[in-house]
Amino acid sequence: MDSGMLAANASPYDRLVQALALIPISYYLFAALFIFLAFLYTFLEIHFLHDLLTLFRGYPVTLTYNSSSHLCQSLLSNCNILRGRYSVTPWLSGPHLQTVFLSVFGRAPPVTYRRHLFLTSDGGTIALDWLTYSDVTEGRSRVIDDSAAIKRDKTPIMIVIPGLTSDSSSAYAKHLAFNMARNGWNVVVSNHRGLGGVSLTSDCFYNAGYTEDLRKLIDHIHCEYPEAPLFAVGASIGANILVKYLGEDGTNTPLVGAAAICSPWDLLICDRFINRKPVQKMYDRALTVGLKGYAQLHQSILSRLADWEGITKSRSVRDFDKHATRILGKFETVDTFYRRSSSVNHVSNVSVPLLCISALDDPLCTREAIPWDECRVNENIILATTPRGGYLAFYEGITASSLWWVRAVDEFFGVLRTSPLIKERQKNFLLFYCRSKAAVWQSHCNLQLMKGHIWMLWKIDW
Ligand SMILES: *[C@@H]1O[C@H](CO)[C@@H](O)[C@H](O)[C@H]1NC(C)=O
Ligand SMILES: *[C@@H]1O[C@H](CO)[C@@H](O)[C@H](O)[C@H]1NC(C)=O
Repeated sequence: MDSGMLAANASPYDRLVQALALIPISYYLFAALFIFLAFLYTFLEIHFLHDLLTLFRGYPVTLTYNSSSHLCQSLLSNCNILRGRYSVTPWLSGPHLQTVFLSVFGRAPPVTYRRHLFLTSDGGTIALDWLTYSDVTEGRSRVIDDSAAIKRDKTPIMIVIPGLTSDSSSAYAKHLAFNMARNGWNVVVSNHRGLGGVSLTSDCFYNAGYTEDLRKLIDHIHCEYPEAPLFAVGASIGANILVKYLGEDGTNTPLVGAAAICSPWDLLICDRFINRKPVQKMYDRALTVGLKGYAQLHQSILSRLADWEGITKSRSVRDFDKHATRILGKFETVDTFYRRSSSVNHVSNVSVPLLCISALDDPLCTREAIPWDECRVNENIILATTPRGGYLAFYEGITASSLWWVRAVDEFFGVLRTSPLIKERQKNFLLFYCRSKAAVWQSHCNLQLMKGHIWMLWKIDW
């Protein structure tokens, strides 16, 4: 009897096994590979097939703003990028691909900053990295020694506030700085305390809700360049700090406009989100490694921290915040820290034009935390969301050479600078500022500023 033939009285299972054994092993390997790829495609949330079927025509940008706001309407009517679509780089069609590509490769343009150290009153040091038009175009800087020329410099200044554990060397900061400097802006990246290669010089640590450094820095730059219009861009935690500052100070800020990119908005919701799924936990780990490295680097000065074993064993941002940030920031519990530091509580009081950009597939700063309703009520806020983009990435073009949000911010600030509605606001601000600072004009800077503002008021064509 032929051994390949199945015995008539064998059980159905034996027959099945014998039949399956007849299929070549390579078919099984192909099937396994296919299943693995399908799993990876889903796990990494890749949407290449969808993009291919829609012929890469991109995703619409959803704009959320107060429909009765004249300011938003007039600004948006000139912002073609925000009213257009965002087309993802075809080989980066997935939030994790975008995010990992940004942090590993980045494709950042060559940028050489000029560093100035800014000392705060509590003894802290903040490294300010400047990039100007001549740095980008001529590859060297024209150093202006004439302080009178600086006082009269009208070139707009953009202040960049980076995210958690990132600094001016991050790819997105370089993309933004290079792009804006090339378009004639003076860019200054404000590294958080202890980052950007400078030591901590006081035991005050930055955290997601600490706005004092930003406030002092903005006043300092406004004092140095009283005639330059000031703008600010915050990324991730930097966006949270910026929006919180804007809400806390309301109309009392010299900023003309601002942008918040991929803000976490609500730290409590984001904390719950990154602890939920295995993919998010990987990001959580990566961020924790960065935070631990930062704390250990400055261990000698952070004498208030006692539980170093807890810090080194931290496996999540939450653990780290429990052992370090909470104690340095003097919060009772981690959740209290998250609740009090969330910028979402301050959205309603923002009084300068603010562009917020978030991707709905952001793997870190979840869409669940986006304050849609609060943005819709405030007449100064435009919230732009795209279905795709990842965390701070938004790569576009076949060579992934540019970031969509950088172009959107560039255009928005450009429109803002020339808007007649803004000129009107600036006039009111100058009047207000002169009045409010009159009480404290004993300091040299205020006196100088006051003179500058009165001079500017006088020059304005009423
Ligand atoms: C809102 O802004 C004003 C200034 O315009 C400020 O005095 C006030 O403290 C702010 N309110 C809150 C709740 O931060
Ligand atoms: C738009 O702003 C006005 C004035 O602040 C407010 O009364 C109105 O409710 C807002 N509109 C929406 C849709 O929230």
